Amino acid sequence: MAVRFAREEELPRVNELRRQVNDLHVAGKPEVFKPGFPPALQDYLREIWNDPKKKIVVCERDGAICGYAVLHHVAKPESPFSLAREFLDIDEFGVDAACRRQGVGTEMVAFIRDCAKQAGIRRLELNMWEFNRDALAFYEAAGFTTYRRYLEMPV
Ligand SMILES: CC(C)(COP(=O)(O)OP(=O)(O)OC[C@H]1O[C@@H](n2cnc3c(N)ncnc32)[C@H](O)[C@@H]1OP(=O)(O)O)[C@@H](O)C(=O)NCCC(=O)NCCS
Repeated sequence: MAVRFAREEELPRVNELRRQVNDLHVAGKPEVFKPGFPPALQDYLREIWNDPKKKIVVCERDGAICGYAVLHHVAKPESPFSLAREFLDIDEFGVDAACRRQGVGTEMVAFIRDCAKQAGIRRLELNMWEFNRDALAFYEAAGFTTYRRYLEMPV
């Protein structure tokens, strides 16, 4: 298993994995996410690829890409409320359904932590949807803790 940054020719495969994550979000939060995987969402990967603040990570196993993550270097300036802060945000994260529970996600988190350390960034951050209990169990097993919540109420 090798975790590394994606090559341009691998973007179509990364989009296949992004579709799995999107389908999961559509099923879990249909009032928020658009069904299907429309061209605009596919093309958004090209914007990510061209964004100097973002990086696409992949996990290759037996010659196939079985996991991906999108990293975003965020530097927030000081505001009236908060101190300046810098972190590596994991914008997207997914493992092929056929490859789950085999340590792929864990290897990707280890790689991402090393990336952050090498760049002098001391903190990883991500947000996730509350319905996604499997992802929460994974992130907690990987060492993440919840530091903030979004609440809602139907009216
Ligand atoms: C969440 C996800 C990334 C985990 O990746 P993975 O490669 O399967 O995770 P790992 O095999 O490294 O799991 C490590 C540990 O995390 C925990 N874990 C992982 N998946 C779990 C699940 N479905 N239920 C409970 N615990 C889980 C376990 O403790 C596991 O160790 P174990 O297998 O020895 O019990 C993967 O299930 C996935 O892609 N899900 C769909 C997309 C998604 O939800 N992405 C996140 C969006 S925010």
